[in-house]
Parts: sequence; structure tokens; C-alpha cells
Amino acid sequence: MKILVTGGAGFIGSHTVDRLVADGHQVRILDCLKKPVHLKGMPPWVNPQAEFILGDVRNKADLQKAMTAVDVVYHLAAYQDYLPDLSNFIHTNGVSTALIYEIILEQNLDIKKVVVASSQFVQGEGLYSCAPCSSAVTPVMRAEEDLLNRRWQHRCPDCGHTMDWLWTGEDHSAPPNAYALSKKSQEQQAMIFGQRYQIPSVALRYSIVQGARQSFYNAYSGACRIFCLNYYFAKAPTLYEDGGQCRDFVNIHDVVEANILALNTPAMDYQTFNVGGGRAYTIAEFAETVRAEVQRHHQQPLPEPVIPGAYRFGDTRNACSKIDRLKSMGWTPKYSASDSVAEYVDWLYAQDNVEDILNYAEQTMKKLNVVRQTA
Ligand SMILES: NC(=O)c1ccc[n+]([C@@H]2O[C@H](COP(=O)([O-])OP(=O)(O)OC[C@H]3O[C@@H](n4cnc5c(N)ncnc54)[C@H](O)[C@@H]3O)[C@@H](O)[C@H]2O)c1
Ligand SMILES: [Zn+2]
Repeated sequence: MKILVTGGAGFIGSHTVDRLVADGHQVRILDCLKKPVHLKGMPPWVNPQAEFILGDVRNKADLQKAMTAVDVVYHLAAYQDYLPDLSNFIHTNGVSTALIYEIILEQNLDIKKVVVASSQFVQGEGLYSCAPCSSAVTPVMRAEEDLLNRRWQHRCPDCGHTMDWLWTGEDHSAPPNAYALSKKSQEQQAMIFGQRYQIPSVALRYSIVQGARQSFYNAYSGACRIFCLNYYFAKAPTLYEDGGQCRDFVNIHDVVEANILALNTPAMDYQTFNVGGGRAYTIAEFAETVRAEVQRHHQQPLPEPVIPGAYRFGDTRNACSKIDRLKSMGWTPKYSASDSVAEYVDWLYAQDNVEDILNYAEQTMKKLNVVRQTA
């Protein structure tokens, strides 16, 4: 088949392109090599067997050109950051998705499948349960005053008891920011336009994806990058809150497997699927996983993380995705977070400018000015 991958120079896109090419498909990439994701220009991993179109998914003419004579569209290009340029998220992620469906309709294209990349961020805080009230609750954002006083856990709005987080399924959504809102819009467009115009469409809600090629210059790449960079220089990483926040991590190869499954499984059409790791890690546990992997490269024992009581206002406390729906389609995650970190660490050690990367990461964090300190 002839397949378009928007964002095919990026982390998930490039791995997906490699797999599609290996499976014998004719692949085309549409990517604008966005900075700072591609701070150094065209990355060396862009598959030479794929056709490359330098263009912007916000630009209808670029998209039209890229969609000419294709059977399938993977829409993976996206703007992901923590900056307050709210309209940019909606424009790059939301409007581009509408343009894809608009072009299909205007040109009466025979598209066999559209796969859009959503994010676990859509679920926000996810669902919680309160034991005394024996009910499921959607918590609201934690108040600044609670965080200042190190009350990290969500408490029941009715009885005040500390609540337990639940594995959260696809039916729940509570987007907490512009990025999540734009991703929710992409999901809804895939469902609504897909069904209305009978264009088989699938939305995949990825948890935190890990592996090689994740941009070093993306504020979004989070804990894995910053912990790895610190340990690279034998420095102790900082954990926010008490390090007890729970997340699930999914390996890039498992994500590619889910992307391919969506292509070949009609039963997935017009549905949204969580693509998660299926195991919850506290951030402290995850830092320990990173320490163990980086330790292979050091003689001296690496330091324990520090927990100074700092926090980032607006962070979600827990986010763990229930993956039963995708499992029922025959997919299951095969790689652990240790596998993913090992791949990332090996890739980091293959770079020749790691000092610059750390400086860049620290400067961006400072500029964002989101870290706050408890009393
Ligand atoms: N990496 C994760 O942990 C994660 C988690 C959940 C969802 N996602 C989603 O998966 C998709 C891929 O993410 P990724 O981690 O590979 O990101 P990435 O930044 O590595 O790749 C995105 C690619 O899109 C390109 N791009 C950005 N804006 C563009 C534009 N306007 N026009 C054309 N190309 C543009 C970039 O140049 C880049 O090559 C995104 O939609 C993202 O929202 C990623
Ligand atoms: Zn209660």
C-alpha cells in the first residue's frame, strides 16, 4: 500500500516508517523538521527508502500534495510542549486533522485508513476511588495551597479521605491543558468524521513512549531524558513532590506494533485505544530503573535522587492507562520500562554533545519557570 506518515522524521513516526518500509509498503513522509525537536536539522534516521516531503501539516497545499494517491494516513506530526501558545496546539494538531478529512472529502480520495496519534494526557488525572464512599471520582486539579503544604494525594471532595487512583479506560477524558485538548479533538474528529463519511479511522492514545530517537530538545520528553542526563554526569536527579506519582511507560516497539495492528484490523475502526505499558511505576521507582541502566557505564556508584519538596504546578499526580481494549484485539506490551531505558541510554551514550544537551534541557526548564518549592 501507499502510506503517508506525517511527522515521519520524529520519534514515533520514524520507527513506524521503518516498519512500514520493511513490510513492503511504499511510504511517504510529510514533516517540516520543526525546531527545537530537530535542532540540528534533518536527523540521520530518516528512512532513505521513504519519499520525503518537507512541508507543514497546517498548510493545505502541502497536505494535498502529500496525500496524492495514498491509501493510508498516519497522522503523527504534532506540536507538543508546555508553552502557553494555546492556539498553536489547536492549529497544528486539531486543524491539521480537520484538513486531512476535508481533503479526503473534497478530492473524493479512496482512503482505507486514517490513524491519529492521541495521548494519555487526554485523561488528565484519570479516575480515582474513595474507599469510605465506595465510589469512582474524577478529581479536580490539586489546589496550590495543598501542594505548598505537601498534600500531594487527591482527597475525596465528599469525605476528605485520601483516594486511590484507578487504571483509566478510553471512555474517560478530562484534558488539563491545550495539548491534551488538541489531542482530544483529534480523537473526536477521527470518530465523528470517520463514521459520518465512512473513512475507517482509529485513534491511539499513547502513554509515555520511550526508546531511541526521542528528541533531546523537546521539553516534553520528560523524566527519562532528564534522569538519564543527570546520571550520565553522575549527578543526582531531582524528583518532584514525594516521588510517589504513578505513570505507565510504553516501549516504542510496542507502539509500532499497535500502529501496524490498527492498519490491519478492521475491528479497530472508529474506536479509540489506550496504548500503555500495563505496569505502574512510581517516579522514584522509575528513577531507580534509570540509575541501574546508567550504572553499567560507571565505575563509582551513582547517587540516590534528591527529593527537595519541589513541585510543578499543574502536573497530574497519577496517570495510568487501562489497556484491556487493545489487548482484546490481540496486542500486548512485550517490553518493560528497563528495556526502554536501556535503549535510550545506549543511544544517549552514542551522542557526542551530551554536555550541550544537558545545558539546553536545564535552560529550558528554568525558562518555563514552572517548578515551585514547598515551605
Ligand atoms: N512521545 C510520546 O511519549 C507521545 C505520547 C503520547 C502521544 N504522542 C503523540 O505521538 C505523535 C508523535 O510524537 P513523537 O514523540 O514522535 O514526537 P516528535 O516531536 O519526535 O515527532 C513529531 C514530528 O512532527 C513534525 N512536525 C511538528 N509540527 C509539524 C508541522 N506543523 N508540520 C509538519 N511536521 C511537523 C516534527 O518535525 C517531528 O518530526 C504526536 O502526535 C504526539 O502528540 C507522543
Ligand atoms: Zn469519600
